[in-house]
Amino acid sequence: MLLSGCNKVHQIFSLSGPQSTMVTAGPVAARQWDLFMITVWVCTFIFIVVGSILAYAQYRFRAKSDADEHAEVPAEAGHGNPFVEIGLIAGSVALLVIIAIPTVRDIWYTHDVPDEEKANAMDVTATGYQWWFKFEYATENVKLANGGEAPLTTANELVVPAGVPVRVQVRTIDVIHSFWVPKLAGKVDMMPNRANFLWFKAEKPGYYYGQCAEYCGESHAIMKFRVIALSAADYVKWLDNQKKSARTATAQMLAAEADAPHVKFASFKEVGPHSTLSGSPEFDANPFAAWQKMQAPEAGENAELIATGRKTFAAKQCVNCHTVRGHEGGGVTAPELTHVGARSSIAAGVLENTPERLHQWLTNPEYFKPGNKMYHGVGAMQGYLKLDDERQPVKDAKGEYVRNITLTEPEIDALVAYLHSLK
Ligand code: CUA
Repeated sequence: MLLSGCNKVHQIFSLSGPQSTMVTAGPVAARQWDLFMITVWVCTFIFIVVGSILAYAQYRFRAKSDADEHAEVPAEAGHGNPFVEIGLIAGSVALLVIIAIPTVRDIWYTHDVPDEEKANAMDVTATGYQWWFKFEYATENVKLANGGEAPLTTANELVVPAGVPVRVQVRTIDVIHSFWVPKLAGKVDMMPNRANFLWFKAEKPGYYYGQCAEYCGESHAIMKFRVIALSAADYVKWLDNQKKSARTATAQMLAAEADAPHVKFASFKEVGPHSTLSGSPEFDANPFAAWQKMQAPEAGENAELIATGRKTFAAKQCVNCHTVRGHEGGGVTAPELTHVGARSSIAAGVLENTPERLHQWLTNPEYFKPGNKMYHGVGAMQGYLKLDDERQPVKDAKGEYVRNITLTEPEIDALVAYLHSLK
């Protein structure tokens, strides 16, 4: 039991794994943990008192001889002691009150941002999709190609300022999901036709792991996300860059940018031990630093390959489902990709966003995320596989799946270069 859910020895005993609820990083999670512990102590007290009386009675009134063993059950001596009975009722009620007071207090606390912090709070909408998360910044608008405006949208990595209360409107586009960042707050279900809500605050800059916590289909267990908390100044820099349209890496631009990466963050001191699935050693050692590194353009970018990737992205139907603001993509049924190259994870937090991993993901998304809609297609927006009217994959005469999208190795290389250029 101790080992369950842990993947590093030092985290088993410090109980500080990346999704530990016991080492909290914000006031909401801290309250939830404290309430849990109050309940544990009250229950422990009851267990010891009841268990001790039971053990004493079993020892004191045990059968001491063969005659005892076969004796008749004695008649009940009386109706019981009213003082003992009233005392037990009063004691039980007192223990329930001890649990109830902080429970009610914390229900109010977690219900909404405290009044004194309301003016400082920010709003985001988190929407669950099978199997990824969309985040919209309600008060941060971006310009669209048609001249309109829309809330800034990202996917799978929610970047917030540290020390600022964040109100999260939780929604779903399909089935019930659940929003949970164990170290910060949670969990609250994303229900169809129901407007749920939670708030959290990250005390310090850091990299926090989130997870869908309601069974939602094949890839529920790998429907993950991240919350990245930045200092106020870093957050403003991040926001400014996110609001820009997609980066177009031409040869001239790469030459001009060579000496000046366009986003640079303050240095960061490790908050605590972290880990991830499938991460490189550098990523595992410090995911926050790895995230920061992703913000700047990579060395050795190839403008020609990036341009080919952009054409491939438009030609191979990616544009139907994904938005790359300022470039060709305009679809809204799949993760927003305008700045996907600056995210530390892909495939909803399952894989580190390295060129190798992105290559593998594009080669066979089904391997990493069973049932995903990029591969299987959904409605008119068909994925890698061709679907019939019943949305079942079509097979040819040889029994092979018929594909809508076929990507050659060079095409995938170009797509990887393009997507990674979107910083
Ligand atoms: Cu979404 Cu489980």
